[in-house]
Amino acid sequence: MLSAAPADFEPGTKLQTHPLIIGHRGASGYVPEHTLGAYALAVTLGADYIEPDLVMTKDGQLIARHDNELGLTTDVAAHPEFAQRKRSKSIDGIELNGWFSEDFTLAELKTLRAIERIPTVRPGNARLNGSMQIPTLQEIIDLSKDLQRSQGRQIGLYIETKHPTYFQQQGLSMEKPLLKILKENGLDSAKAPIYIQSFEVNNLKQLSRASDVRLIQLYGEGQPFDQLSSGTSLTYEQMATPQGFKRVAKYAVGVGPHKSAIIALDSTGALNLANATRFVADAHAAELKVHPYTFRAENSFLPTNLRKGDDPNARGDIEQEVKIFLEAGIDGLFMDQPDIGITLRNPRK
Ligand code: G3P
Ligand code: CA
Repeated sequence: MLSAAPADFEPGTKLQTHPLIIGHRGASGYVPEHTLGAYALAVTLGADYIEPDLVMTKDGQLIARHDNELGLTTDVAAHPEFAQRKRSKSIDGIELNGWFSEDFTLAELKTLRAIERIPTVRPGNARLNGSMQIPTLQEIIDLSKDLQRSQGRQIGLYIETKHPTYFQQQGLSMEKPLLKILKENGLDSAKAPIYIQSFEVNNLKQLSRASDVRLIQLYGEGQPFDQLSSGTSLTYEQMATPQGFKRVAKYAVGVGPHKSAIIALDSTGALNLANATRFVADAHAAELKVHPYTFRAENSFLPTNLRKGDDPNARGDIEQEVKIFLEAGIDGLFMDQPDIGITLRNPRK
């Protein structure tokens, strides 16, 4: 089996020679997120890993959605037969009104079709509205195995458990069914091309006790929801100290922070390597890989000094953004347009 074996780029610099390129929600810059089409495109563009976010169905199935509320990324609102399922719920402390995955069986969810989350930013993606279903984790694994054969290289899955404490409270714990599927597919070992990531702590610790699959601790703001709901005082900030990283390294092989934890933008919103924090150095000292999120090509998502022209939806200088983060020492990155990372890593001669 071949592995992605990129040539060095810009030899003689501190740039990483082999950053892991993760297709964020698939190639979600080009195709509605979390669809088989988005994942397949990410792979054909060269991504090393594709990233399914997982939520649960009423009948205990793992499906790919960023949110358990389905209104933003599916056509559920256009299904009159589901109008009565609209609810208000508190999800990880946030009040939401909509349709929730845990109120639908998989068979019902299969009648929905994916739509683009940000159609004004990505109108080209919206042309694919209505053409693809919500995939199950098993369908994503089957796709990755097929693509592994046709592409002649290993394809990894970088799986995120979304709202694990919430689903546990609904009687729909995610961890056992996830490990069961990985085992059934021969993907439940440390050598498998699998990472499992979570913004919560306890489910990762639980997974580390039950499996050798490699784990990634995501970092957000404030407290992980499981810590908040169980009344501990543990914050992401504490987890990003040298001592905090050592504790994380007991159950995880890497960390996934927001980009701003690595390089804070200045007061004008500009990105400058001189403003790099100690995050990467301290994580590396604890032998943790660092895979920040999320790199997006459109001007509206870029630092002010890397935007090109006045159109917020036009592509800016994301190449420079990626290079600066590689200079900061990251080991991989989540990208909505993974082809850009691949081209930087393997420049055309
Ligand atoms: O999982 C890494 C990154 O995807 C976290 O952000 O909100 O896109 O899942 P989100
Ligand atoms: Ca994610």
